[in-house]
Amino acid sequence: MRSPLSTLPKAELHIHIEGSLEPEMMVALAQRNGIALPYDSVEAVRAAYQFENLQSFLDLYYAGAQVLQTEQDFYDLTWAYLQKCAAQHVRHTEIFFDPQTHSDRGILFEVFHSGITQALKDAKTQLGVSSALILCFLRHLSAEAAMATLEQALPYRDSIIAVGLDSSELGHPPSKFQAVFDRARAEGFLTVAHAGEEGPPDYIWEAIRLLKVSRIDHGVRCVEDPALVEYLVEHQIPLTVCPLSNIKLCVFDTMAQHNLKHLMDLGLCVTVNSDDPAYFGGYLAENFASVESALELSPEQLVQLAKNSFRASFLSPAEQQPYVEELETYN
Ligand code: ADE
Ligand code: ZN
Repeated sequence: MRSPLSTLPKAELHIHIEGSLEPEMMVALAQRNGIALPYDSVEAVRAAYQFENLQSFLDLYYAGAQVLQTEQDFYDLTWAYLQKCAAQHVRHTEIFFDPQTHSDRGILFEVFHSGITQALKDAKTQLGVSSALILCFLRHLSAEAAMATLEQALPYRDSIIAVGLDSSELGHPPSKFQAVFDRARAEGFLTVAHAGEEGPPDYIWEAIRLLKVSRIDHGVRCVEDPALVEYLVEHQIPLTVCPLSNIKLCVFDTMAQHNLKHLMDLGLCVTVNSDDPAYFGGYLAENFASVESALELSPEQLVQLAKNSFRASFLSPAEQQPYVEELETYN
């Protein structure tokens, strides 16, 4: 008998570890570290999560991240997310972290890096969840600050597979970071970038042509440029789409209006991801369930999305193959 679709093996390729900070942990870490929060309960934190755009979310997200102080805090944060992965059949995850959110508060690279990577190692042995780490530059800060962050990361390069670009998109095009990404590639890092979440298709072109990205994070606005869609299809450049995020940040008004199914029908390599699950109402399984019901996806389309998640990952083709074969048994 065929297994239920809820057990599909999946990879997650777009998750900001700081965005997995649940209100319960935020309040507990604030207490542990003697930090005052502008909320008097877990419920009040959750009630504040009403956003009208990306910036209104980022303001709360950066404020929330301030409770993260010690190596143990970063371990606990990462471990909680990885336990969710194990429970939701996420077998592999490629995790973003934002060094500048922490180093600009005086937290040493060594502190957050050790906490995160120790949890990743434990997840491999204790939960059977594999992972990779992607360092994101905050694009609202300067290119010089990004370059300094890259230099801080060089001693840790064996544990970081790629660099990415996140934070406020509008007004901060990929071209601003061309020199940093040139250097990162010369140092052996792969590249990805958020583009076409709120920003125009030209930012996606820049990410491809100037930053030479392997994947586009979000990318949903590509449909506004038919030549871009054609290019993305021809080169099968993956889009790491984040459905619940896009609704919470008002990129689409309702899930029924989300263009994920349309993107798949156009022949694009689309993956489903959670982005900032603690802020947007769900982890990977909830994102799958939401698009399945709102867009009436077929079982074949769900299996396709799961296959895409491994094919678009930084796992080697040989590492991807067993997952793809396992997914074939669902068809
Ligand atoms: N940082 C965390 N989540 C983000 C998102 N959805 N877009 C840009 N930067 C982010
Ligand atoms: Zn993101």
